[in-house]
Amino acid sequence: MSLAPFRFADLRQESDGRDELLAGLLAERAMIPPKYFYDDLGSRLFAAICCLPEYALTRSEARLFAEHGSDIARATGTGRLMVDLGAGDCGKAAGLFPLLDPAGYVALDISADFLRDALERLRRRFPALPMAGVAIDFTRSLDLPESLLTPAGAPRLWFYPGSSIGNFAPDAAREFLARIARACIDAPGGALLIGVDLVKDKAVLDAAYDDALGVTAAFNLNVLNVVNRLLPADFDVADWRHVAFFDAAASRIEMHLEARREVTVRLDKLTRQFAAGARIHTEDSYKWTAAGFAALLNEAGFAKLKQWQDADGGFALFLAELV
Ligand SMILES: C[S@@+](CC[C@H](N)C(=O)[O-])C[C@H]1O[C@@H](n2cnc3c(N)ncnc32)[C@H](O)[C@@H]1O
Repeated sequence: MSLAPFRFADLRQESDGRDELLAGLLAERAMIPPKYFYDDLGSRLFAAICCLPEYALTRSEARLFAEHGSDIARATGTGRLMVDLGAGDCGKAAGLFPLLDPAGYVALDISADFLRDALERLRRRFPALPMAGVAIDFTRSLDLPESLLTPAGAPRLWFYPGSSIGNFAPDAAREFLARIARACIDAPGGALLIGVDLVKDKAVLDAAYDDALGVTAAFNLNVLNVVNRLLPADFDVADWRHVAFFDAAASRIEMHLEARREVTVRLDKLTRQFAAGARIHTEDSYKWTAAGFAALLNEAGFAKLKQWQDADGGFALFLAELV
C-alpha cells in the first residue's frame, strides 16, 4: 500500500512553558493554564471523559454531525484542506472525511506524541489523503509553514470542535477567532467549522465536570504531574482535590485544585506555601448562548454564518465565512 505524503513538525518552545508555569503558580491567585493538561496521560484521560454519561457534549456534537452532515458538506463544499485545531485523537475530523472529502488534513495539537500516534493510525485508514501533524501551542501562534499546508491552493476549512473555544475568556476568544478570520483573508476561500457548548441547567453542567467515576478529577490532578516534570516541582497529587462548578453569573465552569492540608511546594528554585483550602485555578470553560456566539463570530470578522443546533438546545455548530 503506498501512502500519501506525511510530515510532522514540532514547533513548541519548552522554555516558554517553564516561565509561564512559574508566573502562574507564584501569582497571588495561583493558576495553571489548561493547555498543560495534555501530556500523553492527560490526552487519554480526556478521551475517557468524552465517554462518560455525564459529559453529553461529545455525543451532542456527534449527533449534529450525524443528522446534518450532508447539509454541512453542502455548505462547506468538498476538496478543502482541513486544519484541525486541537485535534486530539483526530477522531472527529476522521468521522467527517467521508462527507467532506478533504484534499488534505493538517492536525495541530500541543500533545505531540499523542498526535503523532493518532496520525500514524489515521494514515493507515486513509492512505491516499495527504496529512501533516504540527505540535504547536496555537495560543502563541497560528503561523504554519506553507510546506505543511498541502495541497497548496486548496481552500482551507479550519475545524475547531469540542467547544475548546470555551477555554478562552470572551475577549481572548474574540481575538483568537479574529486570528482565524485573518488567516481566511490571507488564504482566500477559508472557512471555520466550530462546535460550541451552550448554557444549560447548572446541575447538568456541574455533573459534566465532576463525574461520579472521578475521571475528570484524575484529568485535573494529572496537571500536577505535568508541572512536576516541566518546572520541575514536587507537588504530591494526594495533597490536592478536584473542585468544579458552574458560575452562572460568569457563564463558565471553573475547575480548581484545592489543598487538602497546608502544603509547601518546591517550584524550580523557589518554594510556595499553600494554606489548607487554598486553590489553584486550572480551567475555565465558558458556555455561550447561540446568539451570543454568533455575535462573537461577527465581531471577529466573520460576516456569513450558518448554524445547526440540537433539539434540546444544548450544543451548536457554526460554519463561519468572511463573505
Ligand atoms: C478539549 S480537547 C478537544 C479534543 C478534540 N478536538 C475533541 O473535540 O474531542 C482540547 C485539545 O486541544 C489541545 N490543546 C489544548 N490547548 C492547546 C494549545 N494551546 N495549542 C494546541 N493544542 C492545544 C489538547 O491537547 C486537546 O487535544
